[in-house]
Amino acid sequence: MNRTDEIEIVAIDGAFGAEIRGVELARPLDDATFAKIERAFAEHLLLCFPDQHLSEAQQVAFSRRFGELQVHVLQEYRHPQFPEIYVISNVDPATDRPIGRHPDPGTLVWHSDLSFQRRTASATILYGRETPMQGADTQYADMAAAYAALPDNLRRKVEGRRALHDLDYSRSRAGAARMTEDQRRAAPPVLHPMVRRHKVTGRESLYISHHISAIEGLPAAESRDLLAELMEHATRPRFVLSHRWRQHDLVMWDNRPTMHRATAFDTGAERRVMHRTVVLDSI
Ligand code: SIN
Repeated sequence: MNRTDEIEIVAIDGAFGAEIRGVELARPLDDATFAKIERAFAEHLLLCFPDQHLSEAQQVAFSRRFGELQVHVLQEYRHPQFPEIYVISNVDPATDRPIGRHPDPGTLVWHSDLSFQRRTASATILYGRETPMQGADTQYADMAAAYAALPDNLRRKVEGRRALHDLDYSRSRAGAARMTEDQRRAAPPVLHPMVRRHKVTGRESLYISHHISAIEGLPAAESRDLLAELMEHATRPRFVLSHRWRQHDLVMWDNRPTMHRATAFDTGAERRVMHRTVVLDSI
């Protein structure tokens, strides 16, 4: 059993995030230890647990402590034994060799997980089973800080407005495989407010993403320009944290007030195997 008094929470220098030391997520967490992690999560938005050695079942069990897990509509990414795990891997299981292309180009653009469905995500938990020596950092943008610093003219344009989030649209723009008819039927485009209030912290944040295909009530060109302007603002370096992966890092982040994206790596020479679980927001 982990002990609450052995946990150390070390804030990451810069925008946000904390590293959690002195805990082994493969072992059971008592309620006090879990509550400490939950408080740190609310405060820091992103937690990195270094050097974790987790089986798939242990990752699922840890993730379930935070709520119901998503089984992703893109079944081609589901782990064969653990459907709650979304596998982002450039290693071909048949040959055990890198495939030479990014396994999920849809993750390379700024987004917030599950913004394309009515029930969005609270936390994402990403475990680096194999991580490359170079590249493939994951970047995170603090959308509450970005909203607080939003110029008045832009603030007026987003307040009270909704945007249409469409997974197939963002995948086609990112050069990823298009969704099948069945997948499109299961995950049709959905409207969400562009400014949301966090259920736990009460802070407002921008809710934008490359999943957005249109802003309600605006002509297409105006919608595109406004989104580009908001993206440019929200991803300024002062709002962004870049996570350099070490093998066996487990990183969890709050999707409600953040966006994230993966970055490139040498997909022909290096191996990257990531297991992702996503917690659904409470209804
Ligand atoms: C994701 O977009 O959820 C995954 C990010 C990554 O692979 O770095």
